[in-house]
Amino acid sequence: MTKQECIEQILGGHRRTPNERGEAFASANIALCKYWGKRNEELNLPVTSSLSISLGPLGTQTTLSQIDASSDEIMLNGKSIPSSDVFAKRLTAFLDVFRRSSHQRFYIDTTNTIPTAAGLASSASGFAALVLALDRLMNWGLDQRHLSILARIGSGSASRSIYNGFVQWDRGSRNDGMDSVAERLDATWPTLRIATVFVSVTAKSIDSRSAMRRTCKTSRLYESWPSKVAEDLVKINEAIRNQDFNQLGQTSESNALSMHATMISTSPPILYWLPKSVEHMHQVWALRAEGLPLFFTMDAGPNLKLLFEAQNEDAVRAAFPSSNVIAPFLSTS
Ligand code: PMV
Repeated sequence: MTKQECIEQILGGHRRTPNERGEAFASANIALCKYWGKRNEELNLPVTSSLSISLGPLGTQTTLSQIDASSDEIMLNGKSIPSSDVFAKRLTAFLDVFRRSSHQRFYIDTTNTIPTAAGLASSASGFAALVLALDRLMNWGLDQRHLSILARIGSGSASRSIYNGFVQWDRGSRNDGMDSVAERLDATWPTLRIATVFVSVTAKSIDSRSAMRRTCKTSRLYESWPSKVAEDLVKINEAIRNQDFNQLGQTSESNALSMHATMISTSPPILYWLPKSVEHMHQVWALRAEGLPLFFTMDAGPNLKLLFEAQNEDAVRAAFPSSNVIAPFLSTS
């Protein structure tokens, strides 16, 4: 099934008169159990399920309107972006599948509330905010499950950014992906804290789409990834239910390291870590050995995301003075 057919299946009964503009905000998210590997690249259908936590006020704000022009006009963080830009090309290609005629053009104003120096990916919140804004502009009135599917087609992890709090994206089993949807878990954890430890903002040596493809094709270790995820999802869900921080931290850290192990074992190898990343890992382990309940997770990049609880915030800030601390549950409704 193509993206177009999938979108047609969702929007078939939702064609209404568009509004003047559509505006939306979506939070970024960090996976505690990672999505790594696709079983279908066209629709971004994952090999495994995954589970994340949303970052409350850190995310993307997007406003959309229709314009009478020969091409889309894109503003990113207050600056006009040329259509030749990689970001503009990805956005325009995504919007192509939603255009009602080949002449329909959009004005897109998108602002990330994530400090660039936090080193957090913005594609998840970016595509989620875009889909939410499209829904408002085009007056579709879609439910969250369908919005999650549309966001997933933009970027897999965006399926989780439709919601706040803990979110599980179920891999689903259908070929059309209609059951590969994220859902919010009915749980909160007010004392949970995340800190981003920034190592580098330079563009990644390889994007996550290509890295996933290479991992699936060439890593022998990838064979063990689905069973690792199945076990970790049970443990993370249990940790959230019981508010067992050590279990949450242990499992999330181990899951992230296992994902990186599959990448390191590709041919040619993919190693996102820089010397500073490894130094910070050792620092976390040393602090933990001294009794501080502190864990980390990492995505497809060199930056660390620390996991800890509110009562240890001062100790973490002292050890990582340049880190950005986020309280995911203090700002979500
Ligand atoms: O959604 P993508 O294609 O940017 O992939 C995200 C991959 C990871 O961030 C490494 C893991 C995840 O589950 O978010």
